[in-house]
Amino acid sequence: MAQNSEKAQIPEKKSLLMNILDVDGVPLPIVSKEMWNKIYNFQAKPDDLILATYPKSGTTWMQEILDMIQNDGDVAKCKRANSLDRYPFLEVSFPHKEKHDVDIAIEMPSPRILKTHLPSHLIPPSIWKQKCKVICVARNAKDCLVSYYHFHRMASILPDPQSWEEFCEDFMSGKLAYGSWYDHVKGWWDAKDKHRILYVFYEDIKKNPKCTIHKVLEFLEKTLPEETINKIVYHTSFDVMKENPMANHTSIPSYIYDHTISKFLRKGMPGDWKNHFTVTMNEKFDEHYKKKMAGTTLTFCTEI
Ligand code: A3P
Repeated sequence: MAQNSEKAQIPEKKSLLMNILDVDGVPLPIVSKEMWNKIYNFQAKPDDLILATYPKSGTTWMQEILDMIQNDGDVAKCKRANSLDRYPFLEVSFPHKEKHDVDIAIEMPSPRILKTHLPSHLIPPSIWKQKCKVICVARNAKDCLVSYYHFHRMASILPDPQSWEEFCEDFMSGKLAYGSWYDHVKGWWDAKDKHRILYVFYEDIKKNPKCTIHKVLEFLEKTLPEETINKIVYHTSFDVMKENPMANHTSIPSYIYDHTISKFLRKGMPGDWKNHFTVTMNEKFDEHYKKKMAGTTLTFCTEI
């Protein structure tokens, strides 16, 4: 597996943005203490829609689906800006933006779609208080890990992944940005019993995108003509998104995302983990997984 000495460096004046703040044992990247207060005290509005994911679980994909739904299938409107600029991440600051995303979110007119990778227990409490709808997308651990590894290779805003083996260890021990995948997916899974949350699986979207879009529409209490739904399925398919510069992240400066190392829309296929895990690694991972996920009703599909 490739080592990551090849990655571009963030220009020096931007390097402060690479802060990692440990909140409640969860390492949050690119967040300063002073910004954290602002993030945690963010004032949600009842019609805000929150998209919550562990990194690399299909955030960009679901965002594209939601944007198409919000814009009644108008592709041109969905190409108004690149994914990162269309909807803010609550807790993230990107080096190419003048403002922190939380400030962009504060100033954004409603109806707002706000993305977050925060675990459910660190979400701004006003989101619960305002009873905002939340769409949570989760992806099986092995594919998520593989995708996260390649993302660490190409994204200068994240630390070098070191070797593939070391990265796997860090994933299993919850040392990566946003902490433990296991706690994250279980936390949101449990939260869905108390709040207005639609929990969606990456693998299900892949298997039957139309069915997922119908579920999302129902959750949003919105209807669209079948023809528009078909258009959304097409526009948000991997092959079409991969060629769309407003969805594939190629319009983000290359000092942030270096697509010559790895594409942001890389494989888009459940089961790619099989190309990365050795038999020994897989056995060790499964053993550890069983312990971490014991007692939850949450189950994942690792291939389709
Ligand atoms: P891979 O690296 O496995 O290809 P996120 O947006 O949360 O960072 O997730 C990125 C992952 O979602 C990447 O996975 C990317 O290819 C995948 N993805 C994005 N759009 C997709 C689509 N339309 N269909 C399938 N996978 C998609």
